[in-house]
Amino acid sequence: MSDAAWWKTAVVYQVYIRSFADGNGDGIGDITGLTARLPYLAELGIDAVWINPWYPSPMADAGYDVADFRNIEPSYGTLEQADAFIAAAHERNIRVILDIVPNHTSDRHRWFQAALRDEPGARERYLFRPGRGPGGQLPPNDWQSVFGGPAWSRVEGDPDNLWYLHLFAPAQPDLNWEHPEVRSEFEGVLAFWFDKGVDGFRIDVAHGLVKEAGLPDGGVLTAGAQHNATHPAWDQDGVHEIYRGWRSVANRYAPERVFIAEAWVPSNERLARYLRPDELHTAFQFDFLRAPWRASTLRTVIDDAMAGAASVGAPPTWVLSNHDVPRTVTRYSRSQPAGLSESEWERSRWDEEVADHDLGRRRARACALLQFALPGTAYVYQGEELGLEEVEDLPAEARQDPTWVQSGFTDVGRDGCRVPLPWINGPVPYGFSPAGATADPWLPQPPHWGEHSVQAQDGDAASFLHLYRDALTLRRELWETDAEVSWLDTDAGVLAFTRGDAQCWVNTGDAAVPLPPGVSVVLASVPGVTDTLPTDAAVWVRG
Ligand code: BGC
Repeated sequence: MSDAAWWKTAVVYQVYIRSFADGNGDGIGDITGLTARLPYLAELGIDAVWINPWYPSPMADAGYDVADFRNIEPSYGTLEQADAFIAAAHERNIRVILDIVPNHTSDRHRWFQAALRDEPGARERYLFRPGRGPGGQLPPNDWQSVFGGPAWSRVEGDPDNLWYLHLFAPAQPDLNWEHPEVRSEFEGVLAFWFDKGVDGFRIDVAHGLVKEAGLPDGGVLTAGAQHNATHPAWDQDGVHEIYRGWRSVANRYAPERVFIAEAWVPSNERLARYLRPDELHTAFQFDFLRAPWRASTLRTVIDDAMAGAASVGAPPTWVLSNHDVPRTVTRYSRSQPAGLSESEWERSRWDEEVADHDLGRRRARACALLQFALPGTAYVYQGEELGLEEVEDLPAEARQDPTWVQSGFTDVGRDGCRVPLPWINGPVPYGFSPAGATADPWLPQPPHWGEHSVQAQDGDAASFLHLYRDALTLRRELWETDAEVSWLDTDAGVLAFTRGDAQCWVNTGDAAVPLPPGVSVVLASVPGVTDTLPTDAAVWVRG
């Protein structure tokens, strides 16, 4: 694979910067901490990092409420530190992907502040509308925000009874993408960071920028894992023209800069529209993440994802977890129904079934081998390589996700997958913050996480961390090939395919299965595999 095509097979590590490593002891991850851990990332064997928003933000939604797209959040560092980080990452041959948030700004952004002051033309950059009913008492339509509650907030004391739209928190007003200044501003923001050497952008809520004309009623704005994208706010045809403009900005650079879309749309066919040759390069295929641990579902999901991507000549993009969904280990720690319904996804089962984390870890190790054997690009969310579980029992007063408050304290939200990483096998904060730190980590870490720390796993060849390191090294040799997936006939509950010279076998069933005679095991998710593959395990073999 040529260097210019790195993004077609890349393994990208997601850095949730707030929780990665704290360099200055204030309990919040930062650029100093991240830079200091570059050797760790290089040893892991990843090709790129994607950093969640690091721009100045009042943190109403953990940085997805951006106050200034061309600067760095002071608690994370400075622009100079960002420049130095980009250079240091490149020296280690690690590409840097940032997160752009074009659907909304923070309510503290200078544009929204000007809109609140009703400066001439300022409100046109957002979606202000008069309320319905007598005195404009009711919101302009029936949209309910992704985080809960109405998607509209009233402008206090406004003589025209105006409301503004926010698909997420009230502190995240939606931009009006019909406005030419909004379009030119974001193309300028892309160029600002590309000029600094940034290699690409993950596009937040890429399917939400354009709303159906007239903003008709549409009800609850489901998003993320719920995956019901049929709504006048989602996946409108008008978004594609925006991305054609962005692609032409990226194409001005050498090497070409790349985009990855976060677009929760109803099908891979709809997703492929974002990946047409003059639009975006890749898009997360979330069905893989949503699939239960069952061979038949996984195979369907994989086939559908590959076909969708291939229809537009794009690489498939596999993701098992991120900062918005429960961690993989925990998703696999309970029984695995044929399809996870929305309510199950929303954690209602958590109260009914105790999590078996050993089982979840065993399955997560196996699924990692499946993920890395597939063609295309793969994402690793920080802590996935340590086998961390979702922290399900965070105390209510510690929760920070706006979902918790906006849902009227019925949805615990996403904090459980955002808990700061354990680096050292000692007491809390496990080396997340340096010795002598002045503050506790911004979310509390569980009492047993020392044993899952990097230090604890570093010296253990059977650890999760070693499995990831080994898998990423061997992936280059075995699976970085243009060869397609060719499924093998197997028993129910088993998934097996060849690609090039190697085979990947995955057993999600209830009984051990024999491996084909004569194959040699290259890497296994459990120890001692030679000619039989136990349940909840995977293996790479050469035959
Ligand atoms: C991000 C979330 C964020 C939301 C609003 C998402 O899809 O991944 O973390 O809350 O966009 O910006």
